[in-house]
This record gives sequence, structure tokens and C-alpha cells, in this order.
Amino acid sequence: MENNQLIERRFDGKIGDDYSLWQSARPHLKKLRQELVKLLINYQNSCPKESLILEIGCGDGELTEMILSEAKNIKIIAIDNEPSMIQKIRSRLSHYLSQDTLVVIQDDVLNFLQSYPLNNFSFIVSGFTFHNMLALYRFQVFQLLYSRLLIGGKLLDADKIAQRGEQHNRDIKWQYDKFFEVLVSAERFDLLKEVMLHYTTDEQPNRIRYEDETISELSEIGFQEVTLYLRQYMDALIIASK
Ligand SMILES: C[S@@+](CC[C@H](N)C(=O)[O-])C[C@H]1O[C@@H](n2cnc3c(N)ncnc32)[C@H](O)[C@@H]1O
Repeated sequence: MENNQLIERRFDGKIGDDYSLWQSARPHLKKLRQELVKLLINYQNSCPKESLILEIGCGDGELTEMILSEAKNIKIIAIDNEPSMIQKIRSRLSHYLSQDTLVVIQDDVLNFLQSYPLNNFSFIVSGFTFHNMLALYRFQVFQLLYSRLLIGGKLLDADKIAQRGEQHNRDIKWQYDKFFEVLVSAERFDLLKEVMLHYTTDEQPNRIRYEDETISELSEIGFQEVTLYLRQYMDALIIASK
């Protein structure tokens, strides 16, 4: 399959426009983002110079803002391919854009990485993005991310990472119940339908990101000390080093 057949925009329309509303049915993500930032700051304290951070799928800038407000001596390049999300992050974080501590780029991540020099980033961070990608595309993205990371650099990836069998069924039921609770009480049946379709698509065999496959795939690419951490229902933090 050609690469351009694997490129998608899954946050076009209501899913992107009303992102914060349906995300309020995922309150546990805050803890994962906080932990990611804490780890980044701990690792970063041992770096004497400015850390260049690449953020994949920055969305409306929730994680970006937490990093910028808590970490010192950093610069973030944040990528997203969805124009409405890019608009949100640019208006939310205009202060950092003008200071040049943040650069926001609207591009498909694979496209961006292919034209970016090797061994550049101290950290690659991401919040709830990679599970959106088709598995074949995702593998190519991780290969390129590995090559763009400095030796000793870290991947900090909070994402929806499925367990197998009954546990996965319980996790997904919990999340579906939450979507119904939040979106029915907001009388947003239109958005509920889109979110359920989005989630059903995430479950397809050519896309779902299983915990065991994720760990072996990253290790196969060359990442070391690949560790899954702080599981919260369907979501968890993956840490890996180059
Ligand atoms: C679930 S949102 C996460 C946003 C944010 N990181 C957070 O923590 O809330 C996933 C984001 O990844 C972006 N995205 C998905 N696939 C992408 C790709 N191939 N290239 C660039 N951005 C992508 C989407 O547009 C969306 O804004």
C-alpha cells in the first residue's frame, strides 16, 4: 500500500470541534499527562543544555501547555494535521509562540519526519495520538521517530493501549458508559454517535494498539527499556529510550 493511502484526518468535524466536551468523559487522562510531564522534568534535570522536544498530535494544546508551564530550558515543536486543532493551540498558546519557545506545524507526522534531520530531539512526547493511526503507518512513524531521537533521548507516549480479552471488554464498557453519561446529559446525541463510530474504528484489527504488540514493536525498532506504566482503564504511559 502507498504511504498516501495510509494518511488520514480523523479529527475533522465535530470530533475536533467539540474535543474538550467528549474528552471530559475521560477524566483519568489528566493523571497520565501530569505523570508524563513529571517524568520529562526528572529526565531533563540531568541535561545541561536546552532540550528540543517534538510533540506528535498536539491537538488543542492541553499537554503542550502543561509542559511549557512546568519545564524550563525547553523548546517544543508541536505537529498536528487537523486545521481546527492547529487554530485552537495557536490561540491558546500565542504567548509561547511569540517567545519562540513553541513552534506549531500543521502537517502529517510522517510527511514532517521524512524531511527532518536525524538525531535531533532530546524528547518525543505524545498524548493519545498513535492509536488513531493504521498499524502499518504507525510502525513507519515509530521507525522515523527513533532515527530522529538523540542517542540517550526518551520517548514519552501516553495513549490508548488495549489489554487482551475480558479486561479489554471491561475497560471499553467503562469508557462507553462514561460517554453516554456525559453526552446524553449534554443532549449531544450527534456527538455521541460520532464518538462511538470513532471508537469502533479504533477497535479494528488493522488499527488497535495492543499492549504486548506495542512493546515488542518498539523493541524491534531499537528502543530500549520499553516500559508500560500507570495503566488507567484503556489508557497508559509508554516510556522508551534510544
Ligand atoms: C486525541 S487527539 C490528542 C490531542 C492532545 N495530544 C491531547 O493530549 O489531548 C489526537 C491528535 O492527533 C492528531 N493526529 C492524528 N494522526 C495524525 C497524523 N498522522 N499527523 C499529525 N497529527 C495527527 C489529530 O488531529 C488530533 O488532534
